[in-house]
Amino acid sequence: MPAGSKIRLGVIGCGQFMSQQHIQTIGRSDRLVLQHLATRNPEKLQRVANRYDAVRASTRWQEVIGDPEVDVVVVGVVPHLHPEITQAALEHGKPVYVEKPLAETPQLCLAIQRKAWQCGQPLAVGFNRRFAPATEMMRQAFHAAGPPCTVFYRISDDDRVRPPDQQWKLECRLLIEIVHIFDLLAYLFGAEPVRIEATEGRFNDTLVTLEYDNGSRASILSSSWGTMAQPKEHMEAILDRAALEMDDYVEVRTYGLADFPAVQRFAGRPYDQCDNSHVEDFARRGLDALRALRQRYNRLMLDSGVLADSGEAANWERLAEMMGQPPLPQINYAADKGWGAALEHFCQAAMAGTTPRNATAIDGNRSTACAVAGRRSIETRGPIDLDSRTWDPENWVSSKGASR
Ligand SMILES: NC(=O)c1ccc[n+]([C@@H]2O[C@H](COP(=O)([O-])OP(=O)(O)OC[C@H]3O[C@@H](n4cnc5c(N)ncnc54)[C@H](O)[C@@H]3O)[C@@H](O)[C@H]2O)c1
Repeated sequence: MPAGSKIRLGVIGCGQFMSQQHIQTIGRSDRLVLQHLATRNPEKLQRVANRYDAVRASTRWQEVIGDPEVDVVVVGVVPHLHPEITQAALEHGKPVYVEKPLAETPQLCLAIQRKAWQCGQPLAVGFNRRFAPATEMMRQAFHAAGPPCTVFYRISDDDRVRPPDQQWKLECRLLIEIVHIFDLLAYLFGAEPVRIEATEGRFNDTLVTLEYDNGSRASILSSSWGTMAQPKEHMEAILDRAALEMDDYVEVRTYGLADFPAVQRFAGRPYDQCDNSHVEDFARRGLDALRALRQRYNRLMLDSGVLADSGEAANWERLAEMMGQPPLPQINYAADKGWGAALEHFCQAAMAGTTPRNATAIDGNRSTACAVAGRRSIETRGPIDLDSRTWDPENWVSSKGASR
């Protein structure tokens, strides 16, 4: 494909995340085109297709992967459908960007991994945090310090906010959400996890500890019992006579790292038809701005009645009125966690025939393996050893006789 020519995307799924992230990224991009959009609900399909000028629209995902005018397929539906759709797209010779989790078991991840190699197509898993500007700074700091590193990571939500059609997101949080953090830690450490132990008081109120093959360690507090008033993610890292703190990808603070600024703040992410004043405000005031926005948002969710009953349509209507025009963006999407950059980079690399820097099927498999082992650790009340050979291609090529 000549450099600079348009890249035509086939997008499968236009739910809560997809319509606010990847479809808007395509809409804003100079190079990406929404060639073919599919989702089950015809009314929603038509609305989103019209708004983002989809060339074609279909209620059947098979139409997208079979469309000869689609260059790259983006898969963003409920996770249990990821394996079938992703493998079918690869078989049709399409590069695939698939949302997390890659699949719900390591075995299913492995089947996708094999398919990508057999078909010779690049595949990216939507671990977008790798592409957040804040992560790039952290990666450089981890690299400068070298191993071992010790990390504490908190990621918490108030899951009362999920309406009935989002209930699948309340299943095992390790698989639905913490896969992002399993991937981020392996990426920052440049190491493989070798052992995991998890305990849970209330369901999805979980403490996880991980050990890595370069001596690094991490402790993750994952909870759906938190509050939107608090920034969603916080990380602390002890390096070598140096330390680093990160708040929700809007602010990184360093201590004892001579070549890094003491405080770095990052702009927020803009959305269509939203009040985007947070974009600059985050760049200027960082954590203070994020905290103020989250507390305002949480107050609106409380006062509208949405947190008391998110299944009641009248509460969402009241919220829309209370937000005013233009409304605030969805609060967990206000920071720039790399969603747009991850998708744009993958499409451009896939079309240029270069190797994308995105998370691969191996990375997707590793994260799913951590989530599944973490759940097993909770059930068996003990640590679980992880074996990186189960997601290492060298292992399955030799033991299963598969070819790339
Ligand atoms: N990277 C991130 O930060 C992030 C954040 C949220 C969600 N996600 C991922 O994005 C994907 C979509 O999330 P969402 O919030 O848009 O979900 P959603 O629940 O709002 O929408 C689900 C979508 O799946 C489709 N679907 C459900 N059953 C189907 C079926 N049988 N056949 C065809 N389509 C079907 C629905 O039509 C809908 O488009 C998921 O994989 C999720 O894990 C990623």
